Amino acid sequence: MSRTLFVTTALPYANGSFHIGHIMEYIQADIWVRSMRMAGHTVHFVGADDAHGAPIMLKAEKEGITPQALVARYAAERPQYLNGFHIRFDHWHSTDSAENVALSHDIYRALKAQGLIETRSIEQFYDPVKGMFLADRYIKGECPKCHAKDQYGDSCEVCGAVYAPTDLINPYSALTGATPVLKSSDHFFFKLSDPRCVEFLQQWTTGSNAAGTKHLQPEMLAKTREWLGADDGEAKLGDWDISRDAPYFGIEIPDAPGKYFYVWLDAPVGYLASLKSYCALKGLDFDALLDPAGSTEQVHFIGKDIVYFHALFWPAMLKFAGRKTPDAVNVHGFITVSGEKMSKSRGTGISPLRYLELGMNAEWMRYYIAAKLNARVEDIDFNPDDFIARVNSDLVGKYVNIASRAASFITKHFDGVLAYAGDTAALAAEYAEQAESIRAAFEAREYNRAIREIMAYADRINQAFDTAQPWVLAKGIATADDEQKARLQDICSRSLAGFKALSVMLAPVLPALAERVALELFGAQAPFTWADASALPQGVAPFKHLMQRVEPQMLDDLFEPPAAPAVVPGGEPLADTISIDDFARVDLRIAQIVNCEHVEGSTKLLRLTLDVGEGRHRNVFSGIKSAYQPEDLIGKLTVMVANLAPRKMKFGVSEGMVLAASHADESVDAGIYVLEPFPGAKPGMRVR
Ligand code: 2FM
Ligand code: ZN
Repeated sequence: MSRTLFVTTALPYANGSFHIGHIMEYIQADIWVRSMRMAGHTVHFVGADDAHGAPIMLKAEKEGITPQALVARYAAERPQYLNGFHIRFDHWHSTDSAENVALSHDIYRALKAQGLIETRSIEQFYDPVKGMFLADRYIKGECPKCHAKDQYGDSCEVCGAVYAPTDLINPYSALTGATPVLKSSDHFFFKLSDPRCVEFLQQWTTGSNAAGTKHLQPEMLAKTREWLGADDGEAKLGDWDISRDAPYFGIEIPDAPGKYFYVWLDAPVGYLASLKSYCALKGLDFDALLDPAGSTEQVHFIGKDIVYFHALFWPAMLKFAGRKTPDAVNVHGFITVSGEKMSKSRGTGISPLRYLELGMNAEWMRYYIAAKLNARVEDIDFNPDDFIARVNSDLVGKYVNIASRAASFITKHFDGVLAYAGDTAALAAEYAEQAESIRAAFEAREYNRAIREIMAYADRINQAFDTAQPWVLAKGIATADDEQKARLQDICSRSLAGFKALSVMLAPVLPALAERVALELFGAQAPFTWADASALPQGVAPFKHLMQRVEPQMLDDLFEPPAAPAVVPGGEPLADTISIDDFARVDLRIAQIVNCEHVEGSTKLLRLTLDVGEGRHRNVFSGIKSAYQPEDLIGKLTVMVANLAPRKMKFGVSEGMVLAASHADESVDAGIYVLEPFPGAKPGMRVR
């Protein structure tokens, strides 16, 4: 039975470019959407920019532009990423849109009419210089527990303590440095603690959609049960503050001048706004599509960090506004790169744009991600060696290889005509069965299982080909008997039919390649549907190169800091950025060289006796013999690293290090230059 699906991915904040985490989520959803379409289902797949909120307002202000202009700038760069990775949303919209204003107002009014909106006066920190209330992340101060300085308003990064911003010692505004004052203001709350909400969420979180799929994955169900206090009978759901005071970039709340919806209220409504805008373009009936009694399935793909909003607030908002509730919230983990966690704002070491600019094939990435993803909320790791192995050995070596090997015999000896010996019905049935298993794995989001099965199938096709030894059959084929010709044609035809079936199975992951295979190789319809897997091809065009291997150099380039300047300063690229705190850990002192002598047996070292104002002298070995005579240094001031752990060397213990400039490449004869402070510095002074 044909289903209608409304599919979304989390709406990205419009104050940053896409990072690999976004791309992974979109690829996950895009594969699913393509697979469902191949099964004949109707899918409306939409996205949008999440345009509102204080960070976007403040960033625009800093740049001296309007928030709309900032949002427009990021919106303008979205297509190159999406097209580049073959991510095919039907529509891309914005939460800063007329549709979203109207829908957010409607939903709010409906919740209010249900008695689920409450006004409360709350006291909050306010920046008197900026004239605005401060969210926790804009307040800093001393941790009340461990007294670490410059900690954020909600938790301490040093000791991990969690507290209210009012608990901070000497709080200050991160925006202006001003001391915040407490000020009260009316806020609107969505009463999630209302028994109706709690009861509904108890049901929804444990429920299934029409197709029998659970709304939530098991581990997410466990989480929401905990949040709902479902297992200890104690409802823990707090009411949700959905308003913010001006100045704010957002949607003004009806009948409440100067009050705006908190960005997380209108963000998910943006899913509906995008669909509505799409419906208007396509002449579709939005209300009918999202009729609560209708059969459309609403499916959200999101990351594990925003489950609270999607599994609790969002279904409750929709329910009590009398709207259709979600059918599935599909949660994925994060993507790490060589085991390193990414930062939400900066992303990981992989820049998706750089990936494309290097000419790396987007379908390699889609394949790699598919090979890693499953239906659970697990992080996946991008590992360069693993990436190269999977693409080169599996994708190219196993799959593409089948076509290149088999097609050449057919072109050369059979004029492109395929012919099968024996029971073709059985062969078709085998492909159909295999394709159904893969289709089911994609629908269940068990992509890694799908890829595993596909590659096992490719192995079997390659083995059959090798066993038949077509290259032996092809020897002297011009004079061979019909039986030998038929055997050669059969094994190559079977291999190519298998290749076509594999291409159908991989089509959700490799849409561009699958389209070329359909159109150019088999003269078939594109895009493939699942049914095409069992339609045995009758002919094949001369093989054309289908996919390059990954060059390991590409991965080196991908992880290199972008666009190294033509002239590298001093022969070496700049080291990674460090914080001021990192720098402060290095204790640099002015030192007087009270004595300096050659080190017997060393061609490189001089022995320095240094006075750092400690009431004792230090012994330091320094590799500067090629540049200085000992007597030239005696009496001079220099700079040393005074808190370097003492190091035992061949000639004695070295208690620090003297700073000197040199070229990175020792073979470049650029000299060595010991640092000397301006006149007036005294031994022991700290250099900072
Ligand atoms: O976490 C984020 O990046 C949010 N902008 C996601 C919003 S999803 C939906 F609610 F719009
Ligand atoms: Zn602390």
